[in-house]
Amino acid sequence: MREKLLIIDDEQMILELTSMVLSSKGFDVSVVDNAPDSYELIEREQPALVLLDYMMPKVNGLDALKEIQSRFPETYVIMFTGKGSEEVAVELMKAGAADYILKPFSNAKLVERIENVLHIRAIELRNRKLVEEQERLCDEIERWNQELEERVKDKTAELERAHQEILLTEKLVSLGHLSAGMAHEIRNPLNSISLFAQVIRTGLDGDQEMQSYADKIVNEVERIDAILVKLLSTSKRSPFKLRTIHVDAVIEESLQPFLEQMRVQGVVLQKKLSSQTPSILADADELGQIFSNLFSNALFEMKQGGTLSISMEHNDKDILVRVIDTGGGIPEEHLNKIFDPFFTTKDSGTGFGLSVVLRIVKTYAGRINVKSEPGQGTTFQIWLPLV
Ligand SMILES: Nc1ncnc2c1ncn2[C@@H]1O[C@H](COP(=O)(O)OP(=O)(O)OP(=O)(O)O)[C@@H](O)[C@H]1O
Ligand SMILES: [Mg+2]
Repeated sequence: MREKLLIIDDEQMILELTSMVLSSKGFDVSVVDNAPDSYELIEREQPALVLLDYMMPKVNGLDALKEIQSRFPETYVIMFTGKGSEEVAVELMKAGAADYILKPFSNAKLVERIENVLHIRAIELRNRKLVEEQERLCDEIERWNQELEERVKDKTAELERAHQEILLTEKLVSLGHLSAGMAHEIRNPLNSISLFAQVIRTGLDGDQEMQSYADKIVNEVERIDAILVKLLSTSKRSPFKLRTIHVDAVIEESLQPFLEQMRVQGVVLQKKLSSQTPSILADADELGQIFSNLFSNALFEMKQGGTLSISMEHNDKDILVRVIDTGGGIPEEHLNKIFDPFFTTKDSGTGFGLSVVLRIVKTYAGRINVKSEPGQGTTFQIWLPLV
């Protein structure tokens, strides 16, 4: 390929002679007699090299050099300078000229310098391309790494969640066996205790103090029995009847027993329920336990007042119910324990409430998640599938 050269010089003689010499050496030469006219030509022809005269009327050679350099970084510039202006030459080299040639010059010298600069240019351009390619590859590797890290993080979180769920399910199953066996063993003797206490009570005709003790025994036995029933319900499904039901109606129903407590505690209710939501097949009492437990927990947290928000929305797959309180929130370190049976932070709690919630949500192939800002409140989200 013939390399393209452009000569910029105001002396017609130089233009003619040099172009003749260089053409005969195999270069593809263009000429122009002033710098301002050269830019368009450079843009179009993209010469490898410009031979630029330093001393020209109109435009200063140094300015032209800078202009060409900034606009056409791949075009190299050799400057012509007059003899005795070595200081200028140093300045030109500093400004980025590839080389300089003192006028008058010999043809042999000129060709030699041009070939040298072209050689260096070829190497430098190749280097520049390699560096660019390397930077591009580094960027790409960096992007891949980030993508990979993201994916590993997502997968790990997903696995962690699945693992937690398996652990919890296993826990509930073994608790189910244990509590079923235990309840069976304990409820019979409890029943006897209660019966005998009642017999004793009738025998204590007239002794009111003793009678009240017998009543206490009966009440305490009932309390133990209630705990056993609750324990059973965390792991075992009670008899159920599936019907077509509206979730908003179930929520309304579950709210009723809490209205008085809310009034006393000064809790404001914000409801956004929709009767337009499609119905689902479920046992209303069973589903209601989800909401009763969530409301009970939320109100426990808002003894000094607050807001309980209940909203629902749906798409073509799920119904989403949100229960939001403005209570004390759940500390981060408790978040993965709250669904565990027996986990409670309350003096009188059994820690079964959310286990029951989780079991029922799972029964209906739904999902539940919790978000909480300590000091700000807690949001439970429950998705129930439509089919
Ligand atoms: N809305 C909430 N705000 C703050 N903490 C909550 C909330 N809901 C649950 N928790 C925390 O999760 C724990 C477990 O709740 P869960 O309903 O399972 O049991 P409990 O309420 O302690 O006892 P139980 O429901 O059996 O009476 C609670 O003790 C409490 O620490
Ligand atoms: Mg509870």
